[in-house]
Amino acid sequence: MRIAVCPGSFDPVTKGHIDIIERASKLFDKVIVLVSFNSGKKASTVFTVEERMDFILRVTKHLENVVVDCNAGLLADYLKSTGACAIVKGLRAVSDFEYEFQMALANKKLYPEAETVFLTTSTENMYLSSSVVKEIASLGGDISGFVDWEILSDINKRLFNSG
Ligand code: PNS
Repeated sequence: MRIAVCPGSFDPVTKGHIDIIERASKLFDKVIVLVSFNSGKKASTVFTVEERMDFILRVTKHLENVVVDCNAGLLADYLKSTGACAIVKGLRAVSDFEYEFQMALANKKLYPEAETVFLTTSTENMYLSSSVVKEIASLGGDISGFVDWEILSDINKRLFNSG
């Protein structure tokens, strides 16, 4: 069985993430969406790991081969423990590339058995990020084009006036 891991902060999961997860689910037998720890974003995460996992579960329930998990340690160790053969990441723009390239090379060094696979984001999601969603929602803007309707009101309730 070919297992891929889609790691990220997912704070919160956006339509851009869902697009990448859906496409990965067609390429691999099983996809693990992994809520992971990004030391650079530690202080700025709004949603708890449990909330982020719940959101992802709700927006991927139509995908039979997708499961959700979390990991506080190294991605490379998680890949090893699950036997995953790939890390799937979405690339939005050239600005993503340097950071993603660095992580791909580090992960390859730590766990050479897995490849990082980059999927280019769909054009309509080029500008989309969890940070953009959080900023718009906190200022009372309409985020219905950016997050799945299933989790829209939960995100709005939490973020409105939080900024
Ligand atoms: O959505 P993000 O925040 O850009 O995702 C980055 C993430 C969480 C995938 C990355 O920080 C990560 O893999 N964290 C787990 C810890 C780890 O293995 N760090 C070394 C990566 S080379």
